Amino acid sequence: MKKMERLDKILANMGFGSRKDVKRLIKEGRVKVNDNVALNGELKVNPYEDNILLDNEKVIYRKYIYLMMNKPKGVVSSTDDPSSKTVIDMLDDKYLVYKPFPVGRLDKDTEGLLLISNDGKLAHELLSPKKRIDKKYYVEVDGYVEEKHIQLFEKGISLDDGYKTLPSKLEIIETSLVSQVFLTIQEGKFHQVKRMFQSIGMKVLYLKRITMGNLILDENLGLGQYRELTDGEISLLKNI
Ligand code: URA
Repeated sequence: MKKMERLDKILANMGFGSRKDVKRLIKEGRVKVNDNVALNGELKVNPYEDNILLDNEKVIYRKYIYLMMNKPKGVVSSTDDPSSKTVIDMLDDKYLVYKPFPVGRLDKDTEGLLLISNDGKLAHELLSPKKRIDKKYYVEVDGYVEEKHIQLFEKGISLDDGYKTLPSKLEIIETSLVSQVFLTIQEGKFHQVKRMFQSIGMKVLYLKRITMGNLILDENLGLGQYRELTDGEISLLKNI
């Protein structure tokens, strides 16, 4: 991005305090731009190209952050909740200045891949029903999931409110008293996976999301851990 912005605004956006705090830092001569002490907060700088130092430490400016979390059970996918811990509460303070939010929701008792970002445009694209982004879940179901169910899911399942789902892909890993399957859906209706199985008389016992579009949950992330997306992952997501 080539945009020039006021130095005080950039530093305030980066979480170095309010505009007033930042003006004080500048007045105290603690900020340098391209090796010159900057004494005026109104100075226009290019945050991506100019070399900005605060107390001789480089200020790395970026507008967007993209985090992948392996969401654990018991936390809600929202920015703020009066009674439960949220996925945002789990983030390090250094990320909070970017005002991140979960891109889509997982139920409180669902685990797995959750993208957290402050990129509203990307979130909109990923969540738009028109885009039909694949979301793949690992599911443990109470009951015998059999070959005949694959066709049912492929044709679309009528949910309790009469809505008929788009075709979805059911892959059986193991049929047993508690079956293990993968289910890939392209929508995100409320409790969709649980309600799809409920419609065929089965109960979901465990649910974990493993992919969203081109993004695959990093199996090295333990429950509750998160990391920044790599540049490769970000461009894959943007090229959906
Ligand atoms: N479907 C569900 O039922 N729950 C989730 O958290 C995600 C998809």
